[in-house]
Amino acid sequence: MSNAYALQAKGLVKRFGSITAVDGLDLQVEPGVTYGLLGPNASGKTTLIRLLMGILPPTQGEATLLGKRVPDRALRTRVGYMPQAIALYEDLSVQENVTFYARLMGAYTAEGVAEVIGLVDLADRAKSIVAALSGGMKRRASLACALVHRPEVLFLDEPTVGVDPHLRVQFWEHFQRLNAQGVTIVVSTHIMDEAERCTRLGLLYQGRLIAEGTAKGLRERAGAETLEQAFLKFSGNGQA
Ligand SMILES: Nc1ncnc2c1ncn2[C@@H]1O[C@H](COP(=O)(O)OP(=O)(O)O)[C@@H](O)[C@H]1O
Ligand SMILES: [Mg+2]
Repeated sequence: MSNAYALQAKGLVKRFGSITAVDGLDLQVEPGVTYGLLGPNASGKTTLIRLLMGILPPTQGEATLLGKRVPDRALRTRVGYMPQAIALYEDLSVQENVTFYARLMGAYTAEGVAEVIGLVDLADRAKSIVAALSGGMKRRASLACALVHRPEVLFLDEPTVGVDPHLRVQFWEHFQRLNAQGVTIVVSTHIMDEAERCTRLGLLYQGRLIAEGTAKGLRERAGAETLEQAFLKFSGNGQA
């Protein structure tokens, strides 16, 4: 049955010394959806993404990705990750960075590299070294690296911070196209209009999922006008 889900977590706990970053978390995400992790700073979004990918070992519990318990080397080429902290070679060009990731994943084609660079609207900067780019451009280049091998599951950790609104809309349109192709996306955000675009949301607070559902469903359950107000109610910080 576990194969019915693109990913599953059971009783995930991650402690860093006295800090419990993820605090007993169960999660199921079906294939072909965009699942949004919505939560304030330090609520455990980045840690959860790392646990789900198998980059970080859990203190307790387990995660399964595409039917395999993580970590599993066989998953490497099937998963894409855009980390919150941009991981690019500053002294290489955009094109060289994307080519490097494509080759690392055994998925290099010149057309594939050009396609993702075009998708993130960096075609005219393809030959620029990363060090010369703005923060938003670096983020776009980082997304190109995460997409170039056509992963089945994509983890995006606050992908649109510093990205212009019009390009942000294009990103989300592309995420929807990927979903239509069966790609599963897990995205962390604290931007409310992005959260609205997710198929389903998990509200993360102090390392726990305090509520799950569609944006509309969560607002209705909380009797709230906005997702922000709903979050405050579910976390016990809003007036009931
Ligand atoms: N490597 C680490 N060592 C120690 N504490 C960490 C580490 N990574 C995260 N934390 C702590 O875990 C909590 C959750 O962090 P994080 O997962 O980065 O949250 P978010 O991405 O929601 O901002 C925070 O209190 C953070 O300081
Ligand atoms: Mg984070």
